[in-house]
Amino acid sequence: MDLVFSERSRKIEEGIFVILNEKKEALLKEGRNVYNFSIGTPDFKVPGHIMEAMQEACKEPENYKYSITDRPVMLEAVQEFYKNRFGVEVKTSQIMSMYGSQEGMAHIAVALCDPGDIVLVPNPGYPVFGIGPELMGAKAVTYPLYKENHFLPDFDDIPEETAKAAKYMIISYPANPVTSVADDDFYEKAIAFAKKYNVVLLHDNAYADLVYGGRQGRSFLEYPGAMDVGVEFYSMSKSYNMTGMRISFAIGNEKVIEAFRKVRSQIDYGIFLPIQYAVAAALNGPQDHVQEQARQYEERSRTLTRGLTRIGWEIPDGEATMFVWAPIPKNYTSCETFALELAERTGVVVVPGTAFGDLGEGYVRFALVYPVEMIEKAIRAIAESGMLDV
Ligand SMILES: Cc1ncc(COP(=O)(O)O)c(C=O)c1O
Repeated sequence: MDLVFSERSRKIEEGIFVILNEKKEALLKEGRNVYNFSIGTPDFKVPGHIMEAMQEACKEPENYKYSITDRPVMLEAVQEFYKNRFGVEVKTSQIMSMYGSQEGMAHIAVALCDPGDIVLVPNPGYPVFGIGPELMGAKAVTYPLYKENHFLPDFDDIPEETAKAAKYMIISYPANPVTSVADDDFYEKAIAFAKKYNVVLLHDNAYADLVYGGRQGRSFLEYPGAMDVGVEFYSMSKSYNMTGMRISFAIGNEKVIEAFRKVRSQIDYGIFLPIQYAVAAALNGPQDHVQEQARQYEERSRTLTRGLTRIGWEIPDGEATMFVWAPIPKNYTSCETFALELAERTGVVVVPGTAFGDLGEGYVRFALVYPVEMIEKAIRAIAESGMLDV
């Protein structure tokens, strides 16, 4: 049979994570020590009360049926959580679940744009921001994030024609991979831009709870006018370590939520009910573990940046997230060459910055998925390899 696949599917390249995984497997086969800093799956545990709620719900045969809708117990937990955590009041009709923000970012394009439309996405940025619209036949146009500008976009630099043609813009702070946090001024400018050009704003807030220095991450919906122009994605993955349960929420502008809900109702029959009960337990329950976890991520981040700086690889401290965005050592020019050599010579696996867009050149990303002692071992492996000797 002569199989001809769609042009859109042919445009998708094999993810860098697959290639890195093959590299990691090959090193393990050789019996090498591997420090896999490439994938952002937290090693922290799901708190016990969340697992118990899930286990209880799993004992009920009725809970294995199609859920079809989001249950009030979960929606009200999200509503209460947004009120207590961010001071944001939303109606339950302004909240909907998804199988994680990754899936949501892909499918919301169906609701918001048509083939040929423009969507604004960050460079460097999380890959699905651009892949989602492209899969729908739209055109992802990147806006640059430069270190000199604290990795924030300059709205005045977005060409007028592009702004006018854009259907929606994705913003996301605290940011993966660049780890910066946005200030009030940024959100105010973003909302003014959205209003001026009639562009929907999607704010991915996956790292809202992983800000360092005891600071609390904010919600985009806290800012005046946000609800008129946009929607926030809040994920359960990183704050509660529920990555495998695949659940997050779109919250905000009622018309956008309604259109997105209609699209998803044709694709899916609802989130597994025990997961819905686990979410309610997570959001209604104690939150001290979330703050403690942010503190531990900060400790890991500082261990890595300062430890590597001490051995001659200069890396600035990060502000947030579970990542370190590291400029590659001065004696290298390509992040891919450096990442492959680093894996080969030290067993330390990181993601080359170009996996997040061409402006990621010159950087690699570490995911902080190991305790401090393992991070220190990885630093020693790098020091002993001689890679940093010029
Ligand atoms: C910016 C960003 N958004 C979304 C996700 C994925 O979230 P979820 O597990 O809810 O799909 C990630 C995961 O790394 C991320 O970095």
